[in-house]
Amino acid sequence: MTSPALRLGALAALLAAAARPAAGRTEPPIVIRFSHVVAVDTPKGQAAELFRRRAAELTHGRVRVDVFPNGTGYKDNEEIQALELGAVEMLAPSLSKFSQVGVKGFEAFDLPFLFEDEAALRRVTEGPVGKALLARLDEKGIAGLAFWDSGFKSFSANRPLRRPEDFKGLRMRIQASGVLDAQMRALGALPQVLPFSEVYRALEAGIVDGCENPVSNFYTQGMFRVQRHLTLTHHGYLGYAVIANRRFWDGLPAEVRRALTQALAEATAYANRLAREKEEADLEAVRRAGTTEIHVPTREERQRFVRALLPVHHAMEDRLGRGFVRSIYAATGFDPAAP
Ligand code: LMR
Repeated sequence: MTSPALRLGALAALLAAAARPAAGRTEPPIVIRFSHVVAVDTPKGQAAELFRRRAAELTHGRVRVDVFPNGTGYKDNEEIQALELGAVEMLAPSLSKFSQVGVKGFEAFDLPFLFEDEAALRRVTEGPVGKALLARLDEKGIAGLAFWDSGFKSFSANRPLRRPEDFKGLRMRIQASGVLDAQMRALGALPQVLPFSEVYRALEAGIVDGCENPVSNFYTQGMFRVQRHLTLTHHGYLGYAVIANRRFWDGLPAEVRRALTQALAEATAYANRLAREKEEADLEAVRRAGTTEIHVPTREERQRFVRALLPVHHAMEDRLGRGFVRSIYAATGFDPAAP
């Protein structure tokens, strides 16, 4: 039997504990609004979800990440400005979109056939070039935190695209990148810049004739319903820089920032794995839909595209800086004299 005094003591301790402001329970959470423009079931969409979950777990609920997918927060031509203004805290725009903030170097990732394989890509994203590019965002008030893969892009249209000549006169949707503009012109196409969220409707309405996407975006946006031909050229890389508002990121308590860095490292590994693994499944889903003919280029066909797009490399040295482009070639092993 416990004495009344002991029981009272225990009750008092319980009441005191209930009244104490328990860290993480009574304090409002730190909210991170994370906006992106693609479907949830894509490498970026899934990695953002994992980041949300792990951020909550690793900070014991101190951080809440609200993810706004599919352009429900901001469209891709608005989101970086929203981050700069503090209307969202985190984003993962594609690398092609950073010339909007005056850091053109990211467009080098758009150079056609630059990466022979994933190892070559990693030597850039994880090497000095990648680090220097992310650091350049500092002067814009942006913290560059990580690179995430989406995958390699393929061309689609309503006519077969087997040779560079097949692009003549086609209005091809591109992201706002000088390199992508030059790429489409080198093929004889007419590049049209459009926000991602408008691509499906523009294809459906015939405002543009074709586009370039990794299969995950082609499938999850339903583009297979309005594009009868897809050629698996894998001619260009699509990847993202995960970024945060610099003032917000630096203002976080150090232990929270450490936990978020860990959550981000896990999300990065996940995004990159999904980018590798999902392509086949999404391609199979496109195949099953039966509305798009999928063409795998022969070696000769691929070489013709490589040759037709080589002038883009030479032309873009002026835009991106010769020394900078050469440092990327040194990392990837790409030889513009003998691609
Ligand atoms: C695009 O605009 O095509 C891509 O950047 C969309 C995305 O974020 O994957």
